[in-house]
Amino acid sequence: MTREYSPETLCNHPKFDPLPTDNHPLTPPIYQSVKFVMDDFNELKKVFRGEREGYFYSRASNPTLVVLERLLAQLQGTEAGRTMASGVAAVTNTLLALLQSGDRLIYFLESYGPSRAFAEGTLKKYGVIVVKLSLDDLEGIKREMAVPGTKAVLFESVTNPQLKVAPLDLIHAEAKKHGVITLLDNTFAGFQSWQKWPFDLYIHSLTKYASGHGDVMGGAVLGSEKLLKQLDKTLLNLGATLDPHAAYLIQRGLKTYHLRRRAQCENSQILAEWLEGHEAVEKVVYPGLKSHPQHAWFAENFDDFGSIIFLRLKDKKKNIEDVVTKGELFMMTGSLGSTESLITPALFFYASDLTPAEREQAGIDASSIRLSIGIENSKDLLLDMKQILA
Ligand SMILES: Cc1ncc(COP(=O)(O)O)c(C=O)c1O
Repeated sequence: MTREYSPETLCNHPKFDPLPTDNHPLTPPIYQSVKFVMDDFNELKKVFRGEREGYFYSRASNPTLVVLERLLAQLQGTEAGRTMASGVAAVTNTLLALLQSGDRLIYFLESYGPSRAFAEGTLKKYGVIVVKLSLDDLEGIKREMAVPGTKAVLFESVTNPQLKVAPLDLIHAEAKKHGVITLLDNTFAGFQSWQKWPFDLYIHSLTKYASGHGDVMGGAVLGSEKLLKQLDKTLLNLGATLDPHAAYLIQRGLKTYHLRRRAQCENSQILAEWLEGHEAVEKVVYPGLKSHPQHAWFAENFDDFGSIIFLRLKDKKKNIEDVVTKGELFMMTGSLGSTESLITPALFFYASDLTPAEREQAGIDASSIRLSIGIENSKDLLLDMKQILA
């Protein structure tokens, strides 16, 4: 600044010098700025046209988001990524950006509830033809993928809450054959890479394992730069941008992602084995158990067995609401993937929109419980579970 200014003016123009190029903070800073200034207007035009790097407005991009997007893409093994304000925003905005009236979308009755609700309630309203199948309906998947106009298929690698694995090889093969875009919500599996079946786009709720501490929301879509570029304009106009502070917290959470996930999976194995021998339990579903129908498949194809356990109680008359609120450590609430353990009545949380036949097909009844296992000491978790089931 060349002139002497009064205090009111100085408060609004604090002096800010860029760091020397050979001197940088070890932790990426939070760029808590909506606007970015360009000295030269012609250079700004180039930023707008995508001809050079640079920032203008945080809804379009922000350096703190870029640090996170790059890291997420590396973890998922994709070329690029875009972040959004929540996992649901990542699902819905990606679908809105990809699809137009008359396009067909295939999704599954085992899919995450709000994704199903968005397909039925919103996409249909805008003229998208939505086709709901069961992951078990292999013939249906083949048939529907071949129908002209099928643009995308939305699925999860492991379903919530009953831990079914999607027929990934079939979905991948049929989609490639018919030019259908594969949209895998990989939230449950973490940053599991699918080298055998490289899918087009991976969606994550960063609220879960990525941030890991249950204190911040975020979502991401990861894939090739070419495909993501096609979505950019709609994503910008929808405006579900991740806040830089949230992006920083998620990036910080990722520092312990692998440590947390390992501890969660170890605890889950101990608990699942113990639950399987419990007299009050009718069925335990955990991919790390030999009794899981896809145990061998999981062992071969997954990095780990995850931290979600699904169980059904023998006593169908037991008041499930009393059971799930008895925990001192297992807290009754939704969500998953954080450091603390959670317990939820599965029918109420995940299947209340399904018909009785669909619930039966999904394997969820009034006695069904979903556990999300944290990183507490497993002995304490076992003691708490013992008194919950007593
Ligand atoms: C598979 C899956 N996808 C998406 C979401 C939505 O994430 P968020 O709560 O961050 O919007 C969730 C949340 O539970 C989820 O389980």
